[in-house]
Amino acid sequence: MVGDFPPMDPYLDPDQQPEITLQAIVTRLEERSRHPVFRAFTEDYAAAIPSMHPVSVLDLGCGTGAVLRLLEEQLHPDAELTGADISEKILCAARALSQNSRIHWDKIQPDRLPYRDASFDVLLMHTLLSHVPHTHLLLKEASRVLRQGGSLIVFDADHASTTFAQPDSAKMRELDHRLVSAITTHPDICRHLPRHLKNAGFTLLSHKAHPLAECGKGDFWLSSVRAFAKLIPALGILPKEEGDAWTAHMLQSHEDGTFFAAGIFYTFHAKNGDCVATATHQTSPHSTS
Ligand SMILES: C[S@@+](CC[C@H](N)C(=O)[O-])C[C@H]1O[C@@H](n2cnc3c(N)ncnc32)[C@H](O)[C@@H]1O
Repeated sequence: MVGDFPPMDPYLDPDQQPEITLQAIVTRLEERSRHPVFRAFTEDYAAAIPSMHPVSVLDLGCGTGAVLRLLEEQLHPDAELTGADISEKILCAARALSQNSRIHWDKIQPDRLPYRDASFDVLLMHTLLSHVPHTHLLLKEASRVLRQGGSLIVFDADHASTTFAQPDSAKMRELDHRLVSAITTHPDICRHLPRHLKNAGFTLLSHKAHPLAECGKGDFWLSSVRAFAKLIPALGILPKEEGDAWTAHMLQSHEDGTFFAAGIFYTFHAKNGDCVATATHQTSPHSTS
């Protein structure tokens, strides 16, 4: 049986999830962080951070800490790195994955950040905002704990554009919607972000779109299919037969070279406060086939 539709986004309270869901989440976060194309999206914005000479960096919704581990290699050893997350269980995985590191981990409550005003020079939200119900509250808190002129970097998926091809077009649209609605709270957050950033007191400096498309064979999206194969029954996203048929089609299409899946990720760079700047835009060259 399928539960209430859409099921609750499991990232809203990972610690309340059954072990199978939690493990699927941890595995997926680590797997995608290592994928060369996805890693290049992260490296692209991370490369700009050392030149900001930050003394303190906060990764909000840090998950297993993949972004902080990357930054640790790049930033001056005196730079303080803090990872904050609402999930003790995911933070436990983060600690285990970063032994002997200088990263500090904080278990926090949603919406209210336990930091003094202007505590950080750089604040990252890497695939966090699409899971947060009260976008404005969190962005206002981000503005409070960032120093004036500090950098906010938001990287997220435009989940509403994610698609996994199925033979029937109408069914494909319906399934795409059901799948992304089950694992995110705001599948279209990127489209609202310029407005939300302005309303929370940020100045948007630049943005970059990162399309990720796989045709014929799957790779990044194939591992997403494998994660969905665990999450669909665990979260009751689709009736068993429908879920099995979706997974079987995606795996088979990879085998026979007819796979198609695609989605777009975005990076937004904003300054805290008003400042004169010209917004720029770019499209990253990363698109696999
Ligand atoms: C999709 S995961 C992203 C994890 C990590 N940033 C990455 O990209 O690998 C979202 C993370 O945000 C955390 N989270 C959800 N709501 C949050 C909130 N209001 N404040 C802080 N963390 C939150 C979840 O526990 C989860 O670890």
